[in-house]
Amino acid sequence: MSDKVRIVEVGPRDGLQNEKTPIPIEMKLRFIQSLVDAGLHEIEATSFVSPKWVPQLSDAAEMWPQLPVGPKFSALVPNLKGLARALEVGVSRIALFTAASEAFTLKNINMSIDQSLDVFEDVVCGFREKMPQGWVRGYISTAFECPYGGRIEPKQVVAVAKKLRDIGVDEVSIGDTIGVAGPEEVKALTSALLNDVPIGSVTYHFHDTYGTAIANVAQALELGIRSFDSSAGGLGGCPYAPGAAGNLATEDLVYFLDRTGLQPNIDKLRLARASLEILSSIGRPPFGKAQLAQLAASETCPR
Ligand code: HMG
Ligand code: MG
Repeated sequence: MSDKVRIVEVGPRDGLQNEKTPIPIEMKLRFIQSLVDAGLHEIEATSFVSPKWVPQLSDAAEMWPQLPVGPKFSALVPNLKGLARALEVGVSRIALFTAASEAFTLKNINMSIDQSLDVFEDVVCGFREKMPQGWVRGYISTAFECPYGGRIEPKQVVAVAKKLRDIGVDEVSIGDTIGVAGPEEVKALTSALLNDVPIGSVTYHFHDTYGTAIANVAQALELGIRSFDSSAGGLGGCPYAPGAAGNLATEDLVYFLDRTGLQPNIDKLRLARASLEILSSIGRPPFGKAQLAQLAASETCPR
């Protein structure tokens, strides 16, 4: 089994989408550049969603052409209008997003799950036509529990994953949107998923509301999953999932992978510093455990 673990940094998108304080493009670009400098090379940079629904990312089309050249950048696209905006600036990696819960899907994108899949079919088709070498991710939110509808059974997630695969997504990212799952649930869902979805096309996207995200990563690794989303500084939350904390902090993930011998090849101190400017601009102290430890260690032992 491969020892190479893929990290998809979602801080600039998931991390910022929920923040009310407007963050200027220049600051977002400095954040992204710092992530790249730390060694991250797959980054979800923004969203081509409705600016009325997510004002913080309304600058997506203006920011995209200013991204550094080299890393793989992706963006959320909810519908054909979002696709047109994304294609206009040359986005070649898109992420569609639906959920395993009807109630959440409705709140988040104003569609039923089936409606979203119908829309996505057209989006994938239009995208492939213009970007034959492009990459499509399909998120499945609320894969364990929905803030509006309660517990989710693995079979509900598998059903959506199969439909996403049928319409041609390259990978599915399984979201614990409100960060409540524990390792046993990850085990049950992963076993169910792997009957129908190739292991190499599954990513986990854990939020860390109750501090179980790293335990869930450990469980998923044991089952052979090698792809995880995380957010620098543990920034994040979904505007349509009240109470959801940030994503698993990239610093915590990197530290854990390193200590597990899965060398992620990231400069930990640069990573720990990458989100500081944004955290300060939104009035939040750094709060990822590994980030705090790295910053403290760097004061006593500057590098
Ligand atoms: P709607 O209001 O039903 O859409 O929203 P509509 O088609 O009726 O359009 C309404 C207006 O929005 C129209 O403008 C459209 O042109 C415009 P108006 O005529 O009123 O001036 N519009 C757009 N403008 C720009 N870009 C677009 C776009 N689409 C419509 N793409 C819609 C439906 C899907 C657009 C809306 O619900 C939306 O944007 N939702 C996004 C919500 C969001 O971003 N949520 C967070 C991301 S998901 C997440 O965080 C979970 C994840 O991290 C995984 C996990 O943790 O589980 C991925
Ligand atoms: Mg998320």
